[in-house]
Amino acid sequence: MPWHATILSLFPGMFPGPLEHSLAGRALKENRWSLDTVQIRDFATDKHRTVDDTPLGGGAGMVIKPDVMAAALDSVADATGQPDVRPRIYFSPRGRLLDQAFVRDLAAGPGAVMVCGRYEGLDQRVIDSHKLVEVSIGDYILAGGEMAALTTLDAVIRLLDGVMGKVESHENDSFETGLLEHPHYTQPRDWNGHLAPDVLLSGHHAQISDWRQMMAEADTKERRPDLWQKYLQKQGKSTD
Ligand code: ADE
Repeated sequence: MPWHATILSLFPGMFPGPLEHSLAGRALKENRWSLDTVQIRDFATDKHRTVDDTPLGGGAGMVIKPDVMAAALDSVADATGQPDVRPRIYFSPRGRLLDQAFVRDLAAGPGAVMVCGRYEGLDQRVIDSHKLVEVSIGDYILAGGEMAALTTLDAVIRLLDGVMGKVESHENDSFETGLLEHPHYTQPRDWNGHLAPDVLLSGHHAQISDWRQMMAEADTKERRPDLWQKYLQKQGKSTD
């Protein structure tokens, strides 16, 4: 069984969407990962197929009903007749921030169940009772969890076995080392008067490696002081 995602959404037509193209699309055709979708609305019980209701206590927006989402989640858990050990993720701006360590853990497992909300949110009781891990992809508000699920899938799929050519290509990824990656250059050496750094043409591997490390550190320090502080702490260096 390849790495398998089950997506619960009111807009299942959004999947695989962009993941049908490029690296993920080829890997999907090669059965290195697979996907199925569940239409949350199929679990509504009234004749209007209602999935949401007004928030208790008042306020704007609508909240997805716990009974509807619980029925949708239970249908996934019961589908194979075997215990489903995949983590269940609920995408929400209230969640823990997605990072490369979380992506790596997901890719190392059997797959994920991904719950995409719309409206103001999902009744907290179903998040608690079904042990949903709340994940945010950043400090901004999306119209729903679908784009967050697509983003997470994109990050996971490139780590699956056989999806990317060279293993080294993710060992040096930004965040695997704790630093942003160094900048990249290709031919021509002189592009409209903008010269590529000489060291990259020197053929001197140790110097190139030192230069890349220096650039990675300088750029991380300038652009992402939060990552820089963490990096220093990990190296056991005092922070400056
Ligand atoms: N749903 C709405 N905004 C979101 C975000 N930033 N991350 C994950 N899911 C979301």
